[in-house]
Amino acid sequence: MPNRRAAISADCPQSTDRRLDALLTLLAENSTIVVSGAKIAKEIGVSRQQVWRWIQKLRDLGVRVKGHPRTGYHIERIPDILAPQLLSHRLYGTPFARKIFHYFKVDSTNSVAMRLGEAGELHGAVVLAEEQTAGRGRSGRSWVSEKSAGISCSILLRPPISPAQAPLLTLVAGLAARDAAAEELDALPDIRWPNDLLVHGRKFCGILTEMRAEPDRIYYAVVGIGMNVNQTKMPAELGDLATSLRIDTGKVHSRLELLIRLLRHLDRYYNQFLAEGSGPILRRFSEVSSYFRGKRVRITTAAETFTGSTAGLESSGVLRVQRDDGRGLELIHSGDVSEAD
Ligand code: BTN
Repeated sequence: MPNRRAAISADCPQSTDRRLDALLTLLAENSTIVVSGAKIAKEIGVSRQQVWRWIQKLRDLGVRVKGHPRTGYHIERIPDILAPQLLSHRLYGTPFARKIFHYFKVDSTNSVAMRLGEAGELHGAVVLAEEQTAGRGRSGRSWVSEKSAGISCSILLRPPISPAQAPLLTLVAGLAARDAAAEELDALPDIRWPNDLLVHGRKFCGILTEMRAEPDRIYYAVVGIGMNVNQTKMPAELGDLATSLRIDTGKVHSRLELLIRLLRHLDRYYNQFLAEGSGPILRRFSEVSSYFRGKRVRITTAAETFTGSTAGLESSGVLRVQRDDGRGLELIHSGDVSEAD
């Protein structure tokens, strides 16, 4: 459907040139040998001068490419760039392999994915950015995304569920990100309802779910995941509230491997949710989140701030909190949760 495709992409900023993506994949897949400029040019369908310009661009981005047009090129180390071709090979069999939009720099991957949703893009489209200039967090906050240090990823979903079940989508995404990160960490990560990931009490991943819906139907939902991976320091204003996998473990982590695992876990949890309903998702949440039951919390909603103790989740994923002020059980649909002393 060339016309429909053209209409969808016309609505969004231009993503990374597919031939630059092909160049990166070619170099990565031939990392042990020198590939001549002429061969690369022929394979990806551009001039040798263009190959040279793109090699320079990759070098500017920190990809270590050895050689020059006459001798040929080879990559010194597989770059940790979230290149669509490298990803889609490894996501085969999931809906996320079909359409991956990559940006070196964009305002917000959630904004792009929302526009794609509006324009009719299919379920499973993935939007990735090496850097966001206006990353968005929950409750109108901003989200800082340093170049190529973390994962900034938004996934477009068209779930056949009602908006009342939407909090479960957020839990599904949180569980997927949690399982992917757990394999990189020495300590167990925690999930602060609904889906902040913490390690040693500090947040390293946040998720922003946005959607367009009618009372009984979701047209599309965008799950935006921001994970701090290889940052060596966090913005001073976040104090000791935030961390990255690298700060926590002292090791460098592969963003590419993490993202592949995250999307595979997301596929698994999402399918399980659609097939079996909320039961398995809530059970898993109760196993891996210390916030599920009996946690002393401070809740800030649009209307008020109060303290209490968590008392499990509703089947829709909404949090139950027993208030300290004697006013009974409160259902938290959205709001900020922090640990109370
Ligand atoms: C939070 O406040 O904890 C949620 C942060 C979500 C950040 C991610 S980064 C990828 C996606 N694009 C955005 O603009 N926001 C989300």
